[in-house]
Amino acid sequence: MILILDFGSQYTQLIARRVREAHVYCEIHPFNFPVEKIRAMNPRGIILSGGPASLYENQAPDIADEVLHLGCPVLGICYGLYVIAQHLGSRSVGSRAREFGRATLLIDEPDELFAGLDGREHQVWMSHGDRVESIGPALHPIGHSDNSPFAALRSADGRLRAIQFHPEVVHTPCGAQILRNFVHRICGEAANWTAANIVESRIAEIRAQVGADDRVIMGLSGGVDSSVAAALIHRAIGDRLRCVFVDNGLLRAGERERMENIFARQLGLELKVVDASEVFLARLAGVLDPERKRRIIGHAFIEVFEKEASAIGGAKFLGQGTLYPDVIESVSFKGPSAVIKSHHNVGGLPEAMKLELVEPLRLLFKDEARAAGRELGLAAEIVEREPFPGPGLAVRIVGDVTRERLDLLRRADAIVMEETAAAGLNKRLWQGFAVLLPLKTVGVMGDGRTYESVIAIRAVESLDGMTADWARLDPEFLARLSSRITNETRGVNRVVYDITSKPPATIEWE
Ligand code: XMP
Repeated sequence: MILILDFGSQYTQLIARRVREAHVYCEIHPFNFPVEKIRAMNPRGIILSGGPASLYENQAPDIADEVLHLGCPVLGICYGLYVIAQHLGSRSVGSRAREFGRATLLIDEPDELFAGLDGREHQVWMSHGDRVESIGPALHPIGHSDNSPFAALRSADGRLRAIQFHPEVVHTPCGAQILRNFVHRICGEAANWTAANIVESRIAEIRAQVGADDRVIMGLSGGVDSSVAAALIHRAIGDRLRCVFVDNGLLRAGERERMENIFARQLGLELKVVDASEVFLARLAGVLDPERKRRIIGHAFIEVFEKEASAIGGAKFLGQGTLYPDVIESVSFKGPSAVIKSHHNVGGLPEAMKLELVEPLRLLFKDEARAAGRELGLAAEIVEREPFPGPGLAVRIVGDVTRERLDLLRRADAIVMEETAAAGLNKRLWQGFAVLLPLKTVGVMGDGRTYESVIAIRAVESLDGMTADWARLDPEFLARLSSRITNETRGVNRVVYDITSKPPATIEWE
C-alpha cells in the first residue's frame, strides 16, 4: 500500500485516484499522521501532497524527520518538494513570482520516475509560490523548468524524489506515467488492486465482520452506492441481508418496478418494498420551503425505515453505501465543499438505531464502486445511472407537492428520460430531468385558448456535481422534447430550457 500524506491540496484526492488507477491500493491521511501508525501500516511508499501553505508561514505544516527515514521510497509533490528539500538541508525562499499554469519540464538526467516518457521536454502543470533556491549535497536535480532550476530532485541514496509540478492533474499529460513509475518501479508495488480483487477482499471483510448467524438490514435508494454495497453484502452473506426500499411517492416514473425487477428478480435479494407515499405526501401538504421539504422527508424516511427494520427483527448491522471521499479525515476536506454537501444528508440513521455499520465501499472511490458493481453483474442501468436527490421530485416541483402535480411531472420527466436514453446522452450528461414550475401561462391549442403549467428541462454536464455547465443540446433534440411533452402531458402548454450554469444556479431547482 501507498500512503499519501495530505498537506491540504485541492488535488490530493486526484493523487489517490491516479494511484488506484495504476491498480495499487493507497490511503490518504493528514500530514501529521503519527509515525507509529505509519510504521504499523508498513507502506511500500509515501507520497507527500501539495498544499496551500507557504514554508514561510508560522506553523507551516511539516512531517517528523523520521517519516523520510522509514526505509520506503518517498515522493514529494509541490509543497511536498519543499518539505523534502527543507529536511535535506536545502534553502528555499518565498518567491514573489508565483508560477501558475502550464510549464515545460526538461529532464536532465534519466531516472526511474521518467521511465517510458518520450524525449526530454514535457508539458506539466505548476502551481506554487515558494522556490527552492539552493540545494544541499543530499539532493541532486534531475529536471528543471524555465522558472524552477529544481523542478525535479532525487536524493543521493535514490530513495527520495520530489517534483515541483502536479503529476495528478490532466494538464500534466505524462503525470499518470510518472505516478505509475513511482508506485510500480520505485516502490515495487504489483498492480493487483483490480475490480476482481476489490470484490473478493470486500466480501472477505464483510464475512469477517458479520457473524455467521447475524443479519444486516439496509435501505436501498436506487442510487449507485447503496446498490453496489447491497450487491456486495448479498454476495457475502446471502439472504441474511434484508433490504428495505421505501417508496416515498416522490420517485421518477417506473422506479419502484425497476428496483423490484433488478434487486428482487435478477439478484434474488430479500427486498421489502414499502409504500409510504401517504405519509410523505400528507406531511408535505402546503410546504413550500425547500429546506423544510428536505427535513420533513429526511425525518419521515427515518421513521418509516426504523419501523420496517424492527419488523424484520434480529438485525445487528446496518449496511450503508458510504464512499471513501466521505470518510477521508484530512485537511483538504474541511473546506467549503464539505459544508455545501452537508445539507444533502438529512437524518442520522445509525445513531438512532444503535446498529453497527457495514460499509463495504468506505475505502472506494465512486469509479471503483462502479467497477465493483459491474464485476458483481449489476445491470448497467444501475451502475451508470445519474444521481437522484434523496428528497426526489419534491425538490423538482417548485412550490406545493401534490399527487396531481407529481403525476404531471412524472409524465413529462419520463419523456426526458426516454429521449435522453434514445439519443445516447446518458454518458455525456451528469443529470437530465424535468422540473415543474409554480405558474401557468397562456397558450393556444386548436381553436381554444389554454392556461396551463410550464415544464423546465434541466440538463447539465459536470465532473462531480460541485460545479456544472448547462448542456449545449442539439436544438432538434430539444424540439422533440418540447413537442412530445406538450402533446403527451395534459396540463402543460409550455416547455423552457434552463441555460444557467452552477454557480450561480444549483443543479436542482430547489
Ligand atoms: P445542487 O442542486 O446542490 O445539487 O447543485 C448537486 C447534486 O446533489 C444532488 N442533490 C441532492 N442529493 N439530497 C441528495 O441526496 C438532496 O437534498 C440533494 N439536493 C441536491 C443533485 O441532484 C446534484 O446531483
